[in-house]
Amino acid sequence: MDKLVVTGGGRLTGEVVISGAKNAALPILCACLLSAEPLKLTNVPELNDIGTMLKLLAQMGVKVEREGENVTLDASGLNNPLAPYELVKTMRASILVLGPLVARCGEARVSLPGGCAIGARPVDQHIKGLQSMGAEVGVEHGYVVAKVGRLKGARLFTDMVTVTGTENLMMAACLADGETVIENAAREPEVVDLAQCLISMGAQISGAGTDLIRIRGVEKLHGASHRIMPDRIETGTFLCAAAITGGDIRLLGTSTGYLDAVVDKLLDAGCEITGEKTAKHECIHIIAPPRLKAVSIRTAPYPAFPTDMQAQFMAINAVADGTAIIRETIFENRFMHAVEMQRLGADIKIDGNTAVMKGVEKLQGATVMATDLRASASLVVAGLVAEGETHVERIYHLDRGYANIEAKLNALGANIRREKA
Ligand code: UD1
Repeated sequence: MDKLVVTGGGRLTGEVVISGAKNAALPILCACLLSAEPLKLTNVPELNDIGTMLKLLAQMGVKVEREGENVTLDASGLNNPLAPYELVKTMRASILVLGPLVARCGEARVSLPGGCAIGARPVDQHIKGLQSMGAEVGVEHGYVVAKVGRLKGARLFTDMVTVTGTENLMMAACLADGETVIENAAREPEVVDLAQCLISMGAQISGAGTDLIRIRGVEKLHGASHRIMPDRIETGTFLCAAAITGGDIRLLGTSTGYLDAVVDKLLDAGCEITGEKTAKHECIHIIAPPRLKAVSIRTAPYPAFPTDMQAQFMAINAVADGTAIIRETIFENRFMHAVEMQRLGADIKIDGNTAVMKGVEKLQGATVMATDLRASASLVVAGLVAEGETHVERIYHLDRGYANIEAKLNALGANIRREKA
């Protein structure tokens, strides 16, 4: 397996272009299943997870054309509403085909995703919602099997805020008979981006971005064009990379509006951050001090601090001045990177879902193992300031979710090389 070798020490300066959002692109790719007309997407990030989703759609009979960041999907020949285990196991977001398939085909067989490194991550809320809309849904031989004539609009309430759950049910409701109301809906910007794409396909949706989404079902959706929003987690990761190195960088094609909670914490840590608009780009400019102040965080659903930025803030706090408390409230097992950071010399004490960190003057390079996508990114960020070489192993996680991360960081002055296994 490939690894990244990060030589610490450089201060990041310059400009980086932020890619389209993985977590917006994945549900939006699935939205093509709702229509027999083509969906044209731009700013689709070039990532392994996107490749997996396109493979999954293609084996269902969707015609896929991909040219760099432009993807056209034509689901007029959709003939196989099946998501096999082999594809679903590598990417949990495959569950996002369930809602659209049931709505358009009246049936679906989608493998249960199973657990993953950060927690159990069940899909019971997706299933409960479809059942409330009149589908017969059961689990057979590890597959979610759903059947229905036509879904019926219903009042849906999820037990917790779930992002892909909200997206799945919102897509399903677009073709249901009558009105669906999703209460306790996720308010993430990616849910809003999906809703905007669906609306341009003819869906009748209001309230996306609030915790109550109303969808009036229509007979069918038509073709559309849509540009995927910028990736706020990639944005946040590069902000942290700049911050930890005392850097000064501009992030192009993104905006602070998507990540107030993260920006707030970086301001508390002592960074200067401004949103700027040029003729060509929206952009963010960050200037970081030589040493950051420690900042405590608590993850929670949007608009609070995102769990997908928790690991990167652990890297920052590892070398910041002072003590920070990190509380993870979304996933039960999302501190595996802490043990790896301890190998770099970080002072971290874990008690359940709480980590107490005391910043140290210096980290030291070591061999560490990436355990999930954002954990991998945090280890690279930590490696940027560790003395000597940090070898980050198992980086296939990183390639799932970050487009050209080492090339982008090297263009800012980092020293990272990929070693093939
Ligand atoms: C999405 C994001 C992921 C992010 C997460 C939380 C995508 C493709 N992935 O994941 O990057 O970390 O949101 O912001 O957008 N839960 C249940 N039953 C369900 C659904 C969820 O118990 O049916 C629980 C989960 O185990 C978790 C919590 O609800 O503890 C939130 O999970 P959810 O928002 O669904 O995460 P994902 O949508 O899988």
